[in-house]
Amino acid sequence: MSGLRILTAGESHGPGLSVIIEGLPAGLSIDRQEIDRQLQRRQKGYGRGKRMKLERDEVQVLSGLRFGKTLGSPLTLFIANRDNASHAAAMDAWKAEPGLSSVTVPRPGHADLAGAVKHRYADLRNAAERASARETAARTAAGAVLRQLLAEFGVRIGSHVIRIHDAGAPGFDLQIADSQDRTRGIETLCSRAEDSCVRCADQAAEAAMRKAIDRALEQGDSVGGIFESAAWNVPFGLGGMMHWDRRLDAALGAAFMSIPGVKSVEIGMGAASAACPGSKVHDIIEPDLNRRSNRAGGVEGGVSNGQPIIVRAAMKPIPTLGSPLDSVDLQSGDKTKAPVFRADTCAVPAAAVVGEAMMAVVLTRAFIDAFGSDSLEAMKEGYDARKQWIEKLLSAGSHGVRKDHGGPKGRPNDEPDLHRYR
Ligand SMILES: Cc1cc2nc3c(=O)[nH]c(=O)nc-3n(C[C@H](O)[C@H](O)[C@H](O)COP(=O)(O)O)c2cc1C
Repeated sequence: MSGLRILTAGESHGPGLSVIIEGLPAGLSIDRQEIDRQLQRRQKGYGRGKRMKLERDEVQVLSGLRFGKTLGSPLTLFIANRDNASHAAAMDAWKAEPGLSSVTVPRPGHADLAGAVKHRYADLRNAAERASARETAARTAAGAVLRQLLAEFGVRIGSHVIRIHDAGAPGFDLQIADSQDRTRGIETLCSRAEDSCVRCADQAAEAAMRKAIDRALEQGDSVGGIFESAAWNVPFGLGGMMHWDRRLDAALGAAFMSIPGVKSVEIGMGAASAACPGSKVHDIIEPDLNRRSNRAGGVEGGVSNGQPIIVRAAMKPIPTLGSPLDSVDLQSGDKTKAPVFRADTCAVPAAAVVGEAMMAVVLTRAFIDAFGSDSLEAMKEGYDARKQWIEKLLSAGSHGVRKDHGGPKGRPNDEPDLHRYR
């Protein structure tokens, strides 16, 4: 079992959302405003519905923190649903209001029908309330805490949107030969995306994306898209190659696929690698262990390889439509239109922020598996030990091992010493 567990609870229109994070080290300083800032980033985005204007998410801490520092005990966060006031009767924990009508028509593309059959719900609200992406606010709050832990080790996380419907923008450039320039490229795109209403770094594409959203709204339709998420300054050796469920790429795949509406996930070059020869896919290894490209997206053999982690996720269009599709009333059996609720027309920019949170979850779990989590100080000792080992490996190159630690005597310095990599 991994050392990090995250459990969210709460319905979309209930009193609020809770999340328990178990496995945080003791001694981590938490900045509450930073959690609220991440929550507000998730609420933004051109194409969001009216609810996002109503809610202004703010976090409360209910356990696990004393004088601003983690205790190593479960950290509980709570985010109130401001929208609860207008749904209080429909969401009452104890008493059903007489005459309150049930939702009996499922929306195609949402959890309504599958959830109702699975749990034998007569009122589809029960499925919709929990399957709603409102739950991702709790994940974003947890991610905001975990990012503060990762920041202690220099890890940074960002994202940008590269497609909304038919409007596309360039993705992260994985082909730049210099690794520092490559990382700078990622930082630039992520920071430009912060100023964009669709989280897109490309202004021309942003205008086309807005048009696609406007068009969908006018037609009572919805649109999906693609976002990319990156983590940089990630150390070597997170994840595992020994078992399928230790692989970092598998964990990233599952975490990003768990975002409501996400239908495909790629790492690095992703699906495009299937159509290219190996020489155009694999990343040349430089003597300093940097890479001449990052088409692998920072993971090889299920383990981080010191390069930025690059994940790309595609999201389907929002299922709640202004001009609804045909469906069936489960009570009467009659053909009818799906219900129209207040909804987003496009939530790809918000999903990108949730993707950052999921990246933080996966990387923190891998950090904790690698370096423990009794205390931040002990984690740093483990982390520093690995860093020192790598430094030793590097210094063992043309100047180190061969001279000091007895590479075979008399071997010319330009001949590769395979012992270095064993
Ligand atoms: C941030 C975010 C906001 C969303 N907003 C809505 C919404 O307002 N209305 C809606 O029907 N679906 C919304 N969705 C999408 C649904 O949650 C999603 O399509 C649904 O859960 C079914 O997707 P699945 O089949 O991938 O689980 C949103 C998703 C995300 C990530």
